[in-house]
Amino acid sequence: MAKATVLRKAQFNAAHRLFRKEWTDAQNLEVFGPCSHPHYHGHNYQLWVILHGVIHEQTGYVYDLRKLKQLIEEEVMEPFDHRNLNLDTQEFRELNPTAENIARVIWGRLRKRIGPEFGLQVRLFETERNVVEYSGE
Ligand code: NI
Repeated sequence: MAKATVLRKAQFNAAHRLFRKEWTDAQNLEVFGPCSHPHYHGHNYQLWVILHGVIHEQTGYVYDLRKLKQLIEEEVMEPFDHRNLNLDTQEFRELNPTAENIARVIWGRLRKRIGPEFGLQVRLFETERNVVEYSGE
């Protein structure tokens, strides 16, 4: 059975601050750079959701991309778009909203909705040049 990879892109805008509350602002600045500024800042996150699976004989699809679009809408856009990740979401109240952790959280949300017969990978661009991938390890 032939397999293929399909990919759906999305974009969301969110604010965050990277810090450890037990550290001083100076320590946080040293480790996290400008992403640690106390009054938050935004990123235009680009998200690629990548599914790998068998090409279905009757439809010719690996996965219905309209359905994937809807899942991304419910699991990513609704909770995270135009939010302050630290203040407005349960997931990042204690967890530092690095691109790594955001990718991991998004992967976990999508994994619950996508059958185990599909390989799932999330690629998250925090900037054009800074990119993280997560696939469940
Ligand atoms: Ni940042």
